[in-house]
Amino acid sequence: MPKPFQAVRGMNDILPAESALWQSLETTVRDVLAAYGYHEIRLPLVEKTELFARSIGEVTDIVEKEMYTFADRNGESLTLRPEGTAGCARACIEHGLLHNQTQRLWYVGPMFRYEKPQKGRYRQFHQVGAEAYGMAGPDIDAELICLSARLWRQLGIGDVVLQLNSLGSSAARAAYRERLVAYFETRRAELDEDSRRRLTTNPLRILDSKNPAMRAVLAGAPVLLDHLDADSQAHFEELRAMLDAAGVAYEINPRLVRGLDYYCKTVFEWVTDTLGAQGTICAGGRYDGLLEQLDGPAIPGVGFALGLERLVAMLAAAGHPGADANPHAYLIMVGDAAQRRGLALAERLRDQLPALRLRMHCGGGGFKAQFRRADHSGARFALILGEDEVRTGTVALKLLRDPDGQQLTLSHDQAAAHLCAALDSTSRI
Ligand code: HAM
Repeated sequence: MPKPFQAVRGMNDILPAESALWQSLETTVRDVLAAYGYHEIRLPLVEKTELFARSIGEVTDIVEKEMYTFADRNGESLTLRPEGTAGCARACIEHGLLHNQTQRLWYVGPMFRYEKPQKGRYRQFHQVGAEAYGMAGPDIDAELICLSARLWRQLGIGDVVLQLNSLGSSAARAAYRERLVAYFETRRAELDEDSRRRLTTNPLRILDSKNPAMRAVLAGAPVLLDHLDADSQAHFEELRAMLDAAGVAYEINPRLVRGLDYYCKTVFEWVTDTLGAQGTICAGGRYDGLLEQLDGPAIPGVGFALGLERLVAMLAAAGHPGADANPHAYLIMVGDAAQRRGLALAERLRDQLPALRLRMHCGGGGFKAQFRRADHSGARFALILGEDEVRTGTVALKLLRDPDGQQLTLSHDQAAAHLCAALDSTSRI
């Protein structure tokens, strides 16, 4: 027998048993973004490859080795988006969304990176991104951080720490880069292979090394925060003062450099140690030069993206139940006449009670088999339509989760009123 198809490695199905948690997470995220005045933008999954090379940076891990790039039938090089910031900036420039106005935008959806799959790291994963354009001061950086902090509170996530750094202006960073390379050159023998390669391509990323053997070399490296330009320093100090005033705790991490080249000034990550090696649940920062770099206007930007798989894993570990998607009621029909009348009754109840989740039994069968299905469905009520009920224009309503199993015979309108009262009295009838 041929082996059935399996999903592509690192690309996961989100099964029905998991989707309730995803939905409740997405609803909370949407509500919090709306509370801060963010509007949704929907972007294509595929962009021209050049867009990512020009924004994320030619010598980053993402562009060098993680993109799903292919030629379309015209021979044009296209790429499945590895992140959303570049596409969002492209859309804003293309549609003139930044003429004399600021924007606060968000998006959600799958991203694709050819990384080595492990717990919390996948080749197709989902982000919610938030991007704010046209605001140069630290107030919007602080607001974005407060927004994410509020999200953790709403979700009941406690074990998470905010790490903060400033990368300064591109001129300050270029000067720092020279100092850093000079320092690493003096200790070249102690660098691992990866870091030696990065010395010429992307030396700042050496600071990100997780190799314990590199600890001593890194400890002696010059610190970017000590070499900031005056403007970036003032921006960072003001941001810190605003976060202090708002009561948002943070740690300064001078090694935080991020894996994408478009950042300047503020960078931040929310990190947890409850998820193992892949502990960053949200990351972002300021990218004032990106739009110009993409031939757009010289307009500043700042944003972040949440990793939804990692947040779902945290919520599941904390026993978060997710949204209740079980039917409220299950309609059982016994006998030919009832089979014929059942659909009309179900439709009428749905007309009267738009919030009712009603599952109608399909496929026939005896009362016992249908009742078992009703019980398994998780519904609180069974509606039973048998020959007697059809004849008298009634329906039986039975409480499935009540050990005494009380059963009432009701007119159709009475049944609707009964279900309506139950829907009103609690959101989970
Ligand atoms: P990033 O740090 O590459 O930033 O990704 C943001 C978040 O997406 C990570 O912190 C993580 O939670 C999640 N993530 C990234 N890669 C994977 C993966 N392979 N599997 C599972 N989750 C993953 C960006 O993408 C920037 N565009 C963020 C940003 C928006 N900066 C400014 N605006």
